[in-house]
Amino acid sequence: MNIVLVGFMGTGKSETGRVLARRLARPFFDTDEMIESEARMSIADIFARDGESCFRDLETSAVRLLGIMDNIIISCGGGVVLRAENMDALRPNGIMVCLTASPEAILKRVSKTANRPLLKVKDPLEKIKELQEQRASYYRDCALTIDTSALSPAGAADLILKNPLVVQCTTKNK
Ligand code: S3P
Repeated sequence: MNIVLVGFMGTGKSETGRVLARRLARPFFDTDEMIESEARMSIADIFARDGESCFRDLETSAVRLLGIMDNIIISCGGGVVLRAENMDALRPNGIMVCLTASPEAILKRVSKTANRPLLKVKDPLEKIKELQEQRASYYRDCALTIDTSALSPAGAADLILKNPLVVQCTTKNK
C-alpha cells in the first residue's frame, strides 16, 4: 500500500513526503519533480509554453505510473485531485492523506519560490482563497486530513505515522 499526499500548494506535501520516506525507508516520488524531469522544463515554463491542460496531461501520466507501484510515498501536485481519473489511479492502492493550511501560511511558504504559476497574480492571497474554495470538495474525500499551518514537515509526518490506518499498512509490509 502506498501513502499518497494530496492538498493545496504550500501545505508541505513534498517535505512531509520526504520525511515519511526516510522514516519508513521507502522510495519517495513527487509528481511535480517527475514532470519537470520528463519534460526537462520547469513547471512555470510548461504552463507558459504549453498551457495548463498540457501540464495536467503530464500529471496524469505520472500518476498512472505511480498508481501501479507499491509501498512508496507519493507527493502529488495540488491540482491532481481535479481529474477523477487521477484519483481512480491512486486510490485502490493508496492511503489518501490530505494536508491543509491557512491561506496566510500558504502564502508565506509559496512566496519563497517562483514555481507556482497559478499564484503569479496581483493578489495571491485572494487567489489562494478562491482556489481553496473551488477545490474544497475535491480534497474532502481522504482517509486523513492534517492542518499543517503550525506544523513542521516532521510534525506532520509524526501525526501521519500515528494514524491507525497507516500503522496497519506500514507494519504489514515490514
Ligand atoms: C498546482 C500545484 C503545484 C504544481 C502546479 C499546479 C495546482 O504543485 O503542480 O503549479 O494546480 O495546485 P504543489 O502543490 O506541489 O505546489
